[in-house]
Amino acid sequence: MDKISILGQTQLNGRVKTSGAKNSSLPLLFATLLCNGRHIFTNVPNLQDILSTETLLAHLGSKAHRDGEKYIVETNMSDTHKAPYDLVRKMRASILCLGPLLARYGEAVVSLPGGCAIGTRPIDKHLEAMKALGAEIDIQEGYVIARTKKLKGARIVFDGVTVGGTENALMAAVLAEGETIIENAAKEPEIDDLANYLVKMGAKISGIGTSILTIQGVSKLTPAEHAVIPDRIEAGTLLIAGAITGGEVTVENCIPQHFESLIVKMREAGFKIDQEKTSVTVRPAKSWKGVDIQTMPYPGFATDLQAQYMALMCIANGPCIITENIFENRFMHVQELMRLNADITSRTQVAIVRGKPGVLKGAPVMATDLRASACLVLAGLAATGETTVSRIYHLDRGYERLEEKLMSLGGKIKRVKE
Ligand code: UD1
Repeated sequence: MDKISILGQTQLNGRVKTSGAKNSSLPLLFATLLCNGRHIFTNVPNLQDILSTETLLAHLGSKAHRDGEKYIVETNMSDTHKAPYDLVRKMRASILCLGPLLARYGEAVVSLPGGCAIGTRPIDKHLEAMKALGAEIDIQEGYVIARTKKLKGARIVFDGVTVGGTENALMAAVLAEGETIIENAAKEPEIDDLANYLVKMGAKISGIGTSILTIQGVSKLTPAEHAVIPDRIEAGTLLIAGAITGGEVTVENCIPQHFESLIVKMREAGFKIDQEKTSVTVRPAKSWKGVDIQTMPYPGFATDLQAQYMALMCIANGPCIITENIFENRFMHVQELMRLNADITSRTQVAIVRGKPGVLKGAPVMATDLRASACLVLAGLAATGETTVSRIYHLDRGYERLEEKLMSLGGKIKRVKE
């Protein structure tokens, strides 16, 4: 298993480009199940989660390949409508095949994903949405079995904001008969990206970008072309990398508005940040103060940036409170940050970070999940001496060549094969 080794306290400087969004690419690739033909995407990042999706799509009869900048999915009729446990357990987002398979074939058999490091992550809201659209749902031997003669438009009211649930409902509703109204829909930019591609395919959706999506079902969709939006979580991570090392870093090819909640908090902490339409620059700050955050659905502070922000707060001048409202077990990085000498007290969903400039000291640490691994890399960049982060397969699920990008900014970081 690969490790990442970092020699810390080297300032990062320069310009770096953001890759396409993982969390947009995954639903977009599952949306290809909605109709046969050649779907063409650009800006699809090269990541383990994309490969896992490719494997599942191949199991469902589709073929995906890269052709230069293009990522092409050839969708064919599928004899099987089943997403097996082995594929789903590797990537929870596999549940996103439920809506498209059900809408297209009237049947979907999808393994229940099981637990994961950051919490229980149930799929009850996905299932409620499918039931509202007229599906019969059964759970047998660890599988969700969803069946319908024909999905029918309905009013779906989510009792909590769910990104994946909204995406599944949207993908099912576009081929349902009649009108569907999704209320309390998630408003993440990745939902807009999916909706925009569905519209290109011929879907009729209004209210994109709001919490009420109205869909008029159509009988047929056709494949289209689409450029995936930039990854706001990667962009935010790279911005923090510049900030935490006291350097001047410009993150290019991004949409700063998509991670403005982070930019606002970093400015409040004392960083000077220049925001352009497609780039953002952080300038060196000698010291910064602790600023509280709480994670919220978009446009609130993203849970996927909470761990990385905590790394920055470890060396702030003074304390802050970090509250995690989205997942119940998303402080696994706290114990690892403490191995790097950070001063943190955490309870289930609240962490008090007693920031102190220069407090981080290199040590071997272990990544527990995707965003926690990015947090540890950032902390390693700021720590004295060497930090090694093991179990970085988590990092490879969601960051395209992160160590190369950090190296290009002057970071002393390398991947060590074992
Ligand atoms: C997506 C993102 C993930 C991000 C998360 C929250 C993808 C591939 N993943 O995950 O990176 O951290 O949004 O922004 O886009 N919940 C239920 N029942 C459900 C569904 C969700 O109780 O049926 C709960 C979850 O346990 C969680 C909260 O709702 O506490 C939000 O989860 P959700 O928005 O669905 O996250 P994902 O779509 O899984």
